[in-house]
Amino acid sequence: MTAATAVRFADGRADVRADFPVLRRTVDGIPVVYLDSAATSLKPHSVIDATIRYYTQVGANIHRGKHMLSEEASDAYERARQRVAEFLGARSAEVVFTAGTTHGINIVAAGLHLDRDDLVLVSADAHHSQQLPWRQRSRVEFIPVLADGSLDLDRYAELLRKQPAVVALTHCSNVTGRYAPVSELAGMARARGAVTILDAAQSVPHQRIEASALGVDALACSGHKMMGPTGIGVLVVTADLADRLAPEATGGGTVDWVDSGRAVFRRPPHRFEAGTPHIAGAYGLHAAVDYLERLGLAEVRAHDQRLGELMWAEAKQREYLAVIGPGSGSRSGILSMAVDGCADLTDLARILSDSYGVMCRTGHHCAQPFVDAFGHGQVLRISGYIYTTDHDIEAAFHALDEVVPLVRNRSEHAAR
Ligand SMILES: Cc1ncc(COP(=O)(O)O)c(C=O)c1O
Repeated sequence: MTAATAVRFADGRADVRADFPVLRRTVDGIPVVYLDSAATSLKPHSVIDATIRYYTQVGANIHRGKHMLSEEASDAYERARQRVAEFLGARSAEVVFTAGTTHGINIVAAGLHLDRDDLVLVSADAHHSQQLPWRQRSRVEFIPVLADGSLDLDRYAELLRKQPAVVALTHCSNVTGRYAPVSELAGMARARGAVTILDAAQSVPHQRIEASALGVDALACSGHKMMGPTGIGVLVVTADLADRLAPEATGGGTVDWVDSGRAVFRRPPHRFEAGTPHIAGAYGLHAAVDYLERLGLAEVRAHDQRLGELMWAEAKQREYLAVIGPGSGSRSGILSMAVDGCADLTDLARILSDSYGVMCRTGHHCAQPFVDAFGHGQVLRISGYIYTTDHDIEAAFHALDEVVPLVRNRSEHAAR
């Protein structure tokens, strides 16, 4: 194990586990080792308390009521928007609250009025949420990914010559943990007149993101991956693009005026928020941003990089594991591995959970074409966050050393 010094967060603590009630759970007396944060992060007390505060002390709907409780809820909802805007280096009017990354991407894909013939470039390691909304409406070509998880930039430059309408980028792959050079890629796309949209689901939780500095037209992320509640996310969309987008859904909250023949839509972001939103989610997301800021985004990033290094150092000592994507130095705290001799990893995941308390993921991770090509259809993924310790990672690999031969024997037996 690499003996790098543990990161101390900006609030002076190196261990924040006491803030996360789920980490008190045990499996047959063994403390839970939660290594599935790329799927969703655990929530600290402050986020849970903020959502409870809305339901127990406020409870009212936003924007349309003139009574005290409604005004209180509306103020808190708009304060959350302002806080998220500051956090992401955007203006408040550019921040649309969504249900999550998937919803945000769909708002843009649906709003652009694409033709079947329009070309959309999508990176080959994209999550299904950054593929299917485009594939449904237009012609998609994939930007290939090289063996180290990086994008094939030469091929990207060639594809750009075909004048794509949209370039759909992924900041950090949820399979390989590899970061893409977004500013460079977005600059190249802009020079060709393409709209750029960034899936930032796996980057926003782990580092300071300045949406305006990245040079993309839109950026989507999910609250639940950054310690906020499930069911709320953010779409940052520039004023220029927002003006070009038809609202994907319409209804209450989206209009200033409706008469029997006409509707006047509100300005962004409200135009894109139809119906009663996830108000408690906005309270919780505000608390999550506060929590991340208290820890310090530079420290959060350093912790994530350190986790990635530790994971990689453990994996590369084991011949039965083949890491998908980058080696040391360029990864986040997400690591996916093919396991030699184990084609079906379902049993492996179940035994790790039920006998060792290790919660991790197996399968194609909603990037099936990519995992089919690189990982023989299934990979085992471990992913950490600010509460993940060296001990968690060591425990997972020691468990693997014991479980893999067992699962392998079983499948050899079954094959006979
Ligand atoms: C890279 C990436 N994009 C998009 C998504 C979809 O996020 P959500 O389910 O919150 O909409 C995920 C979720 O795992 C992801 O990892």
